[in-house]
Amino acid sequence: MSVSTAEGDRVTIESWLSEWDDRSLARDVLNGLTASPKDVPPKHFYDTRGSELFEQICALPEYYPTRAETSILINRSDEIVAFGAGELVELGSGAATKARLLLSAMERAGNLRRYIPIDVSEQVVRAAGNALVDDFAGLSVHGVIGDFERHLERVPRHLPDTPRIVALLGGTIGNFKPDARRELLRGMASLMNSQDRVLLGTDLVKDVAVLEAAYNDAAGVTPEFNKNVLHVINRELDADFDVSAFDHVAFFDHENEWIDIRLRALRAMTVNVRSLDLSVHFDEGEDLRTEISAKFTPARVNDDFAAAGLVVDHKLVDDEGRFALWLARTR
Ligand code: SAH
Ligand code: TRP
Repeated sequence: MSVSTAEGDRVTIESWLSEWDDRSLARDVLNGLTASPKDVPPKHFYDTRGSELFEQICALPEYYPTRAETSILINRSDEIVAFGAGELVELGSGAATKARLLLSAMERAGNLRRYIPIDVSEQVVRAAGNALVDDFAGLSVHGVIGDFERHLERVPRHLPDTPRIVALLGGTIGNFKPDARRELLRGMASLMNSQDRVLLGTDLVKDVAVLEAAYNDAAGVTPEFNKNVLHVINRELDADFDVSAFDHVAFFDHENEWIDIRLRALRAMTVNVRSLDLSVHFDEGEDLRTEISAKFTPARVNDDFAAAGLVVDHKLVDDEGRFALWLARTR
């Protein structure tokens, strides 16, 4: 079901989330809290408060990925859009801060036509879309409110003679396990024809202390963000998580080369999820897994691209070698 809202004639927002997705939280929580080990999928972090906290994380001194990726976009966006890009499709666009840099380069090249953000968080997309059409003459925005693992077929067709970039930035690809990651890349490839490019951001494997500090900031914003998922479950599913009874845990898993992020129960407890008629027991010290954030080597990126029928034609790394952007085309 789609609710389409015209905001003036240059911004269209279509929402594909409805009751079905309230149930997707319900189903995810039901499956995740009855599994062993317990887990909950990361997309449920991002209600309005969660999106705000994520913006704060991006500004933390320890959280280098945003600054590293942004520096690449500031220095090299002209190079990225040089194949003639006139349209940007962005999965998990958030506040569209990085999109702005690419759209500016497309405008400088005289090719800018349309921006298509896809995100589960409607408010941020709406606000970003309205701000962007004010700032870019001739730009139209078609926001798709949905789950990029399920709703990519809702992305509108190509405009005539307008090559597109299909972007997934911020290292978000690292939040998916290998199978889901490849599936997502295949989904992105399905939005492309031979003139288009994928633009993928990946955090790189590096010194463990640097990696772990990025997910254990001194100011304590990351724990707040991690625990926000419990507030979401309490509110949406009438649950009674005692949020203060959980500790934030984040460490580098050397075998899988990912940051493993969890919430650890500080005491034994029973949590009631009333909407689901579910009671869940936590032992003292038991973990609820909330997210992974994979760190990449070039070999891993190439393998994942190959599995999706994509080949790299451009690799861009920041000056300190921390983060990489990859441009890839269909094979
Ligand atoms: N691209 C931005 C934001 C990254 S945060 C940046 O690089 O800074 C991840 C974003 O992806 C959030 O805005 C979140 O709402 C969105 N997101 C996470 N999982 C999603 C999913 N399955 N479908 C759609 N959006 C998702
Ligand atoms: N995509 C971000 C990342 O993997 C998300 C993130 C940053 C995150 N810090 C977090 C997720 C802490 C959960 C907890 O870097």
